[in-house]
Parts: sequence; C-alpha cells; structure tokens
Amino acid sequence: MTKQELIDQIDKKYDELGENSLNYLAGLLQAKPINYWDYIEVDTLLSLQKPRTDFKDEKIFIMYHQVTELVLGMMKHELEQLVFDEHNEATWIDKINRLNRYTSMLITSFDVMKYGMNYDDYNTFRATLTPASGFQSVQFRHIETMCTPLKNLVNMMGQKRLSSNPSTEEYFEHVYWKDAGYNRKTGEKTLTLRQFEEKYQDKLVELAEKVKGKTLAEKVAAMQKPSDELIEKFKTFDRLYNIDWPIVHLETAQHYLDQKGESKEATGGSEWKKYLHPKCQQRRFFPEIWSEEEKEKWGE
Ligand code: HEM
Repeated sequence: MTKQELIDQIDKKYDELGENSLNYLAGLLQAKPINYWDYIEVDTLLSLQKPRTDFKDEKIFIMYHQVTELVLGMMKHELEQLVFDEHNEATWIDKINRLNRYTSMLITSFDVMKYGMNYDDYNTFRATLTPASGFQSVQFRHIETMCTPLKNLVNMMGQKRLSSNPSTEEYFEHVYWKDAGYNRKTGEKTLTLRQFEEKYQDKLVELAEKVKGKTLAEKVAAMQKPSDELIEKFKTFDRLYNIDWPIVHLETAQHYLDQKGESKEATGGSEWKKYLHPKCQQRRFFPEIWSEEEKEKWGE
C-alpha cells in the first residue's frame, strides 16, 4: 500500500465516523511509542502477590495459582466463542486443540506445586489460608458450566436426589462440587462453601441459563456428522480436564497432606481424599461419546 493510499483510508475511516482525520494524525505525531512493559503490564502483574507470612515459598504458591487462573481465562476465551458463535468443523478442531493444549500445560506444570515448595514451610503457611481453597475458583466452575448441561455435573448419588423436572437452582443444589462442603442430611455448609455461594451462586445460575442448549456437549450432539477426528479431540479434552488434571492435583494433595498417612485437614474442610477423586466426582462433559465400560472405569 502506498503512503497516499494509507492516508486516503485513514481519511475514509474518520469521515465515516464524522470526525476530522487531521486531529487524529496530530495526536499520532505526539503519542509516545508503545513498549513491552506497559503493553503487558509487567509491573502490575508483579505487584499482585501478597503473601500473608514470611515463608519464601508462599509467593510460589500464589504465583502458580495466578498462572492457572490466567490459563483458565484463556480457556474461557475459547469456550465463549464456541458457545455463543457458530463455527465450521475446521475451527472446532482448532479450538478444541487449543483447549487440550492449555489443559496439558496445567497438567505437566503441576509439579511446580508438588515439588516446588518446601514441605514443612507449605504445611505451616497453609494454616493462614483457612478457609480459602482452590475449590473457590469460579473460573473452574464457569468452564464446567459452558462445557456441559448441569445434569452431567451431578454424580450418581446426586441423580437419585433430583426431582423429575429439576430447575437450574435445583441442579446446582445437587451438583457434584457441593459434596465438598455440604452435609445434605443436616443442611450444614462449610464457611468455604457459604462464602463461595454468597459471592457467585446467582451469577452461576445466570450463566447456566444463558448457555442452555449451547454448551459444548449440546453443540456436538446437534452436529450432523462430526468426524472421528473431532470426536477424538472431545474425548481427549474430557480425559485431560476430568481425569488427568484431577489426578495430578490429588497426588499433590496426597504429597503434602497424606505423605505419612496422617490425612491432614484441608483448608476448605472437605473429605478431600474421597471428594477429589474422578471416580467419586464422575464429572464427564461428553458422556454420550464414552462407552458404558469406559464410564465404569472412569479415573481408574
Ligand atoms: C499444594 C497444592 C494444593 C493442594 C494441597 C490442594 C488441595 C486441595 C484440596 C484438599 C481440595 C478440596 C477442597 C478443600 O477441602 O480445600 C482442593 C480443591 C481444589 N483445588 Fe486445590 N490444592 C492445591 C493446589 C491447587 C492449585 C494450584 C489450583 C489451581 C487453581 C487448585 C485448584 C483447586 C480446585 C479447582 C479445586 C476444586 C476441585 C473440584 O471441585 O473438582 N488447587 N485442593
């Protein structure tokens, strides 16, 4: 493009906005060139770690959680496009590949938690975090809600408690993750769960209503003839997010909380050994594409 063609296009752009392009070009003349640190907000990023103790490794704990939240944010960015827009199969494959890549990153990097903190230091500073828990990561719940209808987030025990035509609110009452802090017999909930519900419950119900009929599972079910390649990608995503990540996470919890069979109490107060296992959660985004036998052996 010649310089004149570029100026003509700039004129056209601002004409269409009813603006005088000269004012904008004058602004460009004065504007400072962009640099890496402002664009990426490096100083802001590095100001967001606020340890509550003097243990050095607490900063690693905070930063790795923040890295995870950023990656979950990248996944949501893809999921929002898949849920709310229409795409051809090539784009689906591209985007599920991205989801699988991000989830693999979370799995292969989890050793940063398992081996990257001093055992005794972690077990001392973690007491100051009670009742906070990764359980309260709302992005984790957003991803589940966009991937599959709520009925797939209710495990077999929960299915038995559901009425014949459950509302969104009822599904949320019985969703698998409430098992971490809700005694349904006594109606008691842990502070970790109460805090989470107070902050996020209404918004989660709103999101579930908004994505009804559009979740990834519903979109794949409505596809005319999805290729074997695409189905394989969906299976990989289900396995990575709902078996492999939970397992590396559980192994890390075992490393710090159960190394000598002492079964320490978790900061979020759940019966974590049972609760965190994929076999107990039975979380499957795309149950229709797995055989009964594969579902039986989930997480083994
Ligand atoms: C030393 C490292 C970690 C340990 C010992 C640990 C332990 C636990 C435990 C015991 C729970 C059950 C809830 C509770 O009672 O607190 C839990 C839940 C959870 N944690 Fe972690 N965690 C660790 C690191 C992480 C990291 C880095 C993340 C990333 C954000 C994370 C995300 C989650 C999520 C999403 C849940 C809920 C899982 C679900 O409902 O399926 N955790 N964690």
